[in-house]
Amino acid sequence: MELSWFKKGTIYQIYPRSFNDSNADGIGDLRGIIEKLDYLQSLNVDILWLSPIFSSPNDDNGYDISDYCAIMPEFGNMSDFEELLQKTHDKGMRLILDLVANHCSDEHMWFEEAKKSKDNPYRDYFHWKKPSAEGGPPNNWKSFFGGSAWEYDSASGEYYLHLFTKKQPDLNWENPKVREEIYNAMKFWLDKGVDGFRMDVIPLISKREGYPDAPDVGFRKIIENVYANGPRLHEFLKEMNTTVISHYDAFSLAEGVGINYENASLYIDYDRKELDMLYHFDILECTIVNGKFEEASSFDLPHMKSIFKRWRDAVHKKGWLANAMGNHDFARMVSRFGNDDKYWSQSAKMLLIMQATQNGTLNIYQGDEIGMTNITLDTIDEVRDVQSLNFYKENLETRKYSNESAFKMINKEGRDNARTPIQWNNEKHAGFSSKTPWLKVNPNYKEINVAKQNSDPDSILNFYRNLLKIRKQHDVFVYGDFEELDFDNPNLYMYKKTYGHKKIKVLLNFSTLIHDVNSNEGAEALINNYDDLIIDNGCIKLQPYQGVILEL
Ligand code: GLC
Ligand code: CA
Repeated sequence: MELSWFKKGTIYQIYPRSFNDSNADGIGDLRGIIEKLDYLQSLNVDILWLSPIFSSPNDDNGYDISDYCAIMPEFGNMSDFEELLQKTHDKGMRLILDLVANHCSDEHMWFEEAKKSKDNPYRDYFHWKKPSAEGGPPNNWKSFFGGSAWEYDSASGEYYLHLFTKKQPDLNWENPKVREEIYNAMKFWLDKGVDGFRMDVIPLISKREGYPDAPDVGFRKIIENVYANGPRLHEFLKEMNTTVISHYDAFSLAEGVGINYENASLYIDYDRKELDMLYHFDILECTIVNGKFEEASSFDLPHMKSIFKRWRDAVHKKGWLANAMGNHDFARMVSRFGNDDKYWSQSAKMLLIMQATQNGTLNIYQGDEIGMTNITLDTIDEVRDVQSLNFYKENLETRKYSNESAFKMINKEGRDNARTPIQWNNEKHAGFSSKTPWLKVNPNYKEINVAKQNSDPDSILNFYRNLLKIRKQHDVFVYGDFEELDFDNPNLYMYKKTYGHKKIKVLLNFSTLIHDVNSNEGAEALINNYDDLIIDNGCIKLQPYQGVILEL
């Protein structure tokens, strides 16, 4: 197995808008990140992934790019970026950017030109179609954020495709000029020294010929079979690799939307030379049945174990995964998979133990290192995320759910949960900014904040620091062969990992009850989220949400 630098590394995702505001306008920025580089280094993370920092009208907070080679003025300027990159490297960390190549902003010059006329040279940068025979959109495709995926342009009498908001027109990758533009933008940043890209919705770039109607099979299946994995996708990814990535010491992390464990190796098999790794949606969506804001099942541990196993078996030794339990698109990890009430601290630590001992690169999200939790927003004018706003508006029309339950879903699953400002201390606005932030601060900041946890040796924060350090010293965490123990147990997740002569055993209690686990190995706890390991009569008494790594 090839041991590359990015495999043992920990990726820390920064959502710049919510990280730290350096100039008191209520919006996080690049200088805000520079101010916190010592903090980031103290976490023992290796790779910083910045959500988009490029010029954007912010319909989808930067995932709608109007200039791929310019910095969003709210975030700073190019010299701020260069300083950030230099200082990140000086501290021995790497930096990757977020490449949004499936679509751009309708305020990008390309789209403004394309709209001017049907024979404009930029027209073919996008997907245009005539109305259907009966009038109306050319097919039944739905946007990820609600409504039709087609928007009518009255000037030309045609529709353009947008899989996300109507301000995010999809780029036409069939057009070689589009591909060249994207490759040039990638080179622009790689030449500055960035270390790679997270690739936003990359499986969607090749569209199916003739734009066939989607069958009525539920949105997840539609994504897999109609939007993602298109006919020329792998050709494009290979071209991107040979034209750009392979010329640099850089790596690519794909957002695996629409990728399943059966086709994953087509993307990340080393021999195919396409992408270096991906994070998939099966774990991230394991509490979501069909799509967001539809009836959700609750968390089920055996289901989660089987997802981890399935993926491990499928890509083992032929490709590489990143392990994400949360990011800017999902509610907070401790609120979803742990217990953000009585066992908040224990469960946040236990989830990290699980994440850090799965094969693959550890991918953590800002704020999870202090156990930030979901927020309750009370009125629609507190909601900022376009996905939640669209859902709310649509529901007002369709009345599918009562107002109250629509709001409940937004608070449970909405993306604003993960985007509230980082809670640095217990001062005004949680120390994020001296002005009212763009999105409400979670009122629990007086209890949950960096300053408080910094000085507490038992805090979640110091647990992260310690575990990330230990993980670097033990290859078995990252590369070990996996052996499941008592796989069907509904409350306990237990496994052994072996790498060479190193062996560890991981015991995780996902319940509020004490469970006995047979243990005659007399092992030492390398990591424990409780002060003690209680052994009685050859049984370990696993406490609520206790997590232990034993060195065998
Ligand atoms: C990805 C991003 C998400 C964004 C969408 C459209 O899923 O993570 O935040 O809204 O792509 O770019
Ligand atoms: Ca600012």
